[in-house]
Amino acid sequence: MIFAVTILVRFFQVASRQGALDPVGPRALHIEHLFWFIFWICLFVFVVVNVLFWYGAKRRVLAGENPRGIIENPDGDRKAAWGVGFAVAFTVVVLFTVLFLSLRASRVVQATSAENPVTIEITGHQWWWEVVYPDSQSDLQISTANEIHVPIHERIAVVTKSVDVIHSFWAPNITGKRDLIPGYASSLSFEVDKPGIYRGQCAEFCGLQHAHMGFLIVAESRDEFESWKQNQLRDAPEPVSKATSHGREVFLSHACVMCHTIRGTDAASHMGPDLTHLASRREIAAGTLPNVRGALAGWILDPQSIKPGNHMALNIIGGEELNDLLDYLGTLK
Ligand code: CUA
Repeated sequence: MIFAVTILVRFFQVASRQGALDPVGPRALHIEHLFWFIFWICLFVFVVVNVLFWYGAKRRVLAGENPRGIIENPDGDRKAAWGVGFAVAFTVVVLFTVLFLSLRASRVVQATSAENPVTIEITGHQWWWEVVYPDSQSDLQISTANEIHVPIHERIAVVTKSVDVIHSFWAPNITGKRDLIPGYASSLSFEVDKPGIYRGQCAEFCGLQHAHMGFLIVAESRDEFESWKQNQLRDAPEPVSKATSHGREVFLSHACVMCHTIRGTDAASHMGPDLTHLASRREIAAGTLPNVRGALAGWILDPQSIKPGNHMALNIIGGEELNDLLDYLGTLK
């Protein structure tokens, strides 16, 4: 019982952060309207069909009455023909209305604008999201993972790509889905009207850990967005204690350095997420774990138990080394 309640509470917690019926932007609102329109039509048809079925089933041959032969009833035939004709016409009208509204909704959702928007490049990887805020000046470019910050009430343009298989970018509170096709860039745009943290998810089966390919969209005011940006532009801070300085050495002398970047150090590989500001992010492993010390330790030591098949290798790092490494990673705010 308690288990069922816990699951239910968890479901509503996640649903409130990730749900197409709780729109926070004009595009998601359009999709929600379409959903409710189709829902009410389906409900109406369901009720009408059931009433007619019940009415038909109620008419029965009375006991004692002889089984009737074929009855000639031209008047009844004419009525039935009109009834069927009306039902067919109604069905055709409803289907075309739904088709028209769906096409209109997809036009609204797909539309990109000529304004000068905030541009974000999102690249799908098995199984995480690379997020880049491009800039013509390379030192003004931000690179992060699985957490997308956007200012509210502003047009956001997203350019999507994939490096391996087909993924699908879907933040149901904000906009519709967009497939990420390898070797083919496409774009979408959206706006968020309400500050908050919204969850999104890969919506195209992309391998073993498709279900663990989540991301967050953090919608905030222009000022908060700017200060986040300024912080992300900074290189990683120099270690100030013996432990964190040893932690950095551990990072640079183990397999970590083969896949990750920490700007300001020699680690500059782009195989895995950029960790320059790892500690500023809310979750790790694409929404699989909260970004807390214990979860991070488990992830570093044995990522294959948590997300089997992902590209991160397990690391054999001992007690003191691991502690110092975690201390160092904790400074990457
Ligand atoms: Cu990526 Cu499913």
